[in-house]
Amino acid sequence: MNSAEHKLSVLLDFGKVINKTKTLNSVLESMADFAREILGADRCSIFVYDRFSDELWSKVAHEIEPLRITARKGVAGYAALSKETQIVVDAYNDYRFNPEVDKATGYLTQSILAVPLLDNHENTIGVFQALNKKNSVFTNIDAELLLLISNYAASAIENAILYDKIRSTQAKIIHKLASAAEFKDQETSKHTKRVGLYSALLGTHYGLSEDEVHKLELTAPMHDAGKIGIPDRIILKPGKLDDDEFALMQSHATIGYNLLLDPEDTYLQTAALISYEHHEKYNGKGYPNGKKGEEISIYGRIVAIADVFDALVSQRPYKLPWSFEKAFSYLQDERGEHFDPTLIDIFTSHKEAIRSIYEDLKD
Ligand code: C2E
Ligand code: SIN
Ligand code: SIN
Ligand code: SIN
Ligand code: FE
Ligand code: FE
Repeated sequence: MNSAEHKLSVLLDFGKVINKTKTLNSVLESMADFAREILGADRCSIFVYDRFSDELWSKVAHEIEPLRITARKGVAGYAALSKETQIVVDAYNDYRFNPEVDKATGYLTQSILAVPLLDNHENTIGVFQALNKKNSVFTNIDAELLLLISNYAASAIENAILYDKIRSTQAKIIHKLASAAEFKDQETSKHTKRVGLYSALLGTHYGLSEDEVHKLELTAPMHDAGKIGIPDRIILKPGKLDDDEFALMQSHATIGYNLLLDPEDTYLQTAALISYEHHEKYNGKGYPNGKKGEEISIYGRIVAIADVFDALVSQRPYKLPWSFEKAFSYLQDERGEHFDPTLIDIFTSHKEAIRSIYEDLKD
């Protein structure tokens, strides 16, 4: 493998996490089967709600072809828009019922139970619907049961949507990096992963949301992508860089920013910002812009610590690895100078967790 191929394989590794979700449909299918069984229903379907077109798309449905229906009519639409469970005892005598679907499918609907699927922010992401309870009608107890199952369906769908988004971001990142002529730097895949993990640890204990932490973990490894633009003779130089060489080296922060920036994608925006800011210093003496304190985004302040710590305890073409003790004492010395003091306090109070990240992903 040449070095560019090696780097691409590193980036593709990110994707392994993501492929887990290819079974969304099978998960939803077993939920629909389970619900049918437990409720004694004739059929169940799970719809995904598209808020832009105000439509419901059937993701899983017993014995019918995939459907796409407006959410402005019908019992499932009622559940989607009202965000409340709907129980219908006699469909053809109920104002909520939309008989057009039966007309299209040839089915005869009698009773209906429809439960909205809500995300963490209480937005509708779909509807779980059961039709025609055998020899009876749906009760409040059935509604409670379906609501329980629905919580699982909602998280499965939510995860799949998030993973889809990440997958498309990842494809863009790979494309952008691959289109650059060569990958130059010798940092290993493990270094970039470790930087992601230390950053996630800092983000979590700093109090960032789960979504932000996740985004940070995926984008922090891109901080040095701009080294693509730096000549080999500098990156691989075994000794100290002279002033001109270091000036050129410093341009990797801005190169990475321009390479990664994508106005349509929040992940790439974060990746670009991290690249831009990861060599800024809390005291304002960093590069490329000499930003100071909280002018540097929380992402930049976090990755600065993660990157330097890992650079110190690792071998580089120009240096031997430092001991953990020496590295932590260096961070402490730079508390409030190079690094955000609050974040240094967090970092130094999780030494064991940091050590295990390093040990688990040793070069
Ligand atoms: P890098 O090797 O990933 O190092 C990232 C940052 O870790 C450095 O940013 C610096 O803040 C910190 N760091 C790494 N090693 C040491 C060290 O031995 N002592 C101290 N006090 N801090 C250290 P910086 O300085 O802006 O460098 C950016 C990049 O420039 C480095 O990334 C590396 O690729 C390159 N570089 C820096 N100095 C040299 C050098 O003397 N020789 C060579 N060949 N490359 C260098
Ligand atoms: C699917 O429609 O089942 C694919 C969703 C995903 O895997 O993200
Ligand atoms: C997230 O879960 O991180 C939010 C998705 C996004 O940034 O678009
Ligand atoms: C990579 O090349 O693996 C990501 C960018 C970097 O940190 O060098
Ligand atoms: Fe860097
Ligand atoms: Fe790095």
